[in-house]
Amino acid sequence: MRKRNLAVIGLQWGDEGKGKIIDSLSRDVDVIARFQGGNNAGHTVVVRGEKFVFHLIPSGILRPGKTCLLGNGVVVDPRVLISEIESLQKAGISVGPENLKISPFCHLILPYHRLMDTLREGDRDKKIGTTKRGIGPCYVDKVNRCGIRMRDLICPERFSQVLAENLRQKNPIFEKVYGHEGYELDALSREYLEYGRTLEPFICDFTEYFFPRREKLCVLFEGAQGTFLDVDYGTYPFVTSSSVIAANARLGSGLPFVRLDAVLGVAKAYTTRVGEGPFPTELSGKFLDFFRQRGVEFGATTGRPRRCGWLDLVLLKRAVQINHVTELVLTKLDVLDGLEKIQVCTGYRREGKKLHSFPDELRGVLPQYTEMPGWPGGVSGARSFRDLPAQARDYIRMIEEYLEIKVRYVSVGEKREAILSQE
Ligand code: GDP
Ligand code: IMO
Ligand code: MG
Repeated sequence: MRKRNLAVIGLQWGDEGKGKIIDSLSRDVDVIARFQGGNNAGHTVVVRGEKFVFHLIPSGILRPGKTCLLGNGVVVDPRVLISEIESLQKAGISVGPENLKISPFCHLILPYHRLMDTLREGDRDKKIGTTKRGIGPCYVDKVNRCGIRMRDLICPERFSQVLAENLRQKNPIFEKVYGHEGYELDALSREYLEYGRTLEPFICDFTEYFFPRREKLCVLFEGAQGTFLDVDYGTYPFVTSSSVIAANARLGSGLPFVRLDAVLGVAKAYTTRVGEGPFPTELSGKFLDFFRQRGVEFGATTGRPRRCGWLDLVLLKRAVQINHVTELVLTKLDVLDGLEKIQVCTGYRREGKKLHSFPDELRGVLPQYTEMPGWPGGVSGARSFRDLPAQARDYIRMIEEYLEIKVRYVSVGEKREAILSQE
């Protein structure tokens, strides 16, 4: 039987545990491809007691013999990419042009994107709480057709020409609007062309290389961020600047000729969010402290404390529909250990009235909870569904019934082996 091409997509506001799941599933695929976002992502994988946090390189890189891709939809900060490659190599992980390939169409993050991200955020009446990695301004330049791409990095003449034009337009804005120094062409050119020399061997024409092998390949599309951070379907304007949902996987990966057979939606057994924006089940007080401490809910990229709340099934149902999720992955079930009662949001109200359809604005909605019993002991030692306490199985069954979809995997700890599956 031909193996399935899968997308792994976050169903909440990011940090659902995608990195760990991608590491597990990448054992059975040939190619792992990032298709959007940049180093705003932070994907954590714990293997044999060692912790790796990936910002750009796909989480499949730890598996020997797999090919990892940065597709055209990814925005690349070359400085960050090179340091990620080098620190993996130092840790004894093999990373080279044979197992990491970069699309020539990836747009590059330049220092002026990072600065603009910070300055714009400072200016906003309502902050987004961006990661300040320059992601938004880089995508702005892409659609504004003045971006600089990976292929320009290896062509000094073209690079200097596009960079000069950008500085001509951007420096006066930094200087006159923000009272900030502009950028100097020669220094920036020298720095980036040096990155180009390091990255040139990794650049690959995906169509030429992969099209002839498309039928034999098994691809895992690695989502970053989460559905409600999607630029179209998320809680706009409190979103990231790319399309994070499954429908973008083929386009952004640079493998538009590869079929997508299954979509695995990843959700935490509760909910978290970093940055600003509406969050109906958000908690404060002792339950917030409980989740933050037990779940170690601090951002993998910026170290910011994550906001925490109960599981929101109204939100998840919407994400299942938007991504056409075929199987669910529930992570961090072990974090709920020790709770006497667990609340699950199964409806919304606004101004005292029950909402019968998904609201166009999440701000101001009040969650309606269904109370479930907690379970005795812990689930982190479980290695099959049968090992779980009856109450934990009831929690999973309740989620399956509400979402009308099967929970295929449950993660019960950060380690690679702490995962249960059911057919
Ligand atoms: P991602 O961005 O979706 O890849 O998720 P992050 O790596 O940013 O955040 C998830 C965090 O939870 C990481 O620290 C993981 O090591 C950890 N994690 C993943 N799955 C589990 C789990 O089942 N239980 C516990 N306790 N931690 C987990
Ligand atoms: P992973 O892949 C959680 C959030 C930021 C901010 C908003 C916009 O690890 O799940 P940006 O820098 O993208 O312009 O910030 O999006 N954000 C994330 N939150 N996990 C992520 O990635 C995120 N990437 C961006 O906190 O609210
Ligand atoms: Mg993360």
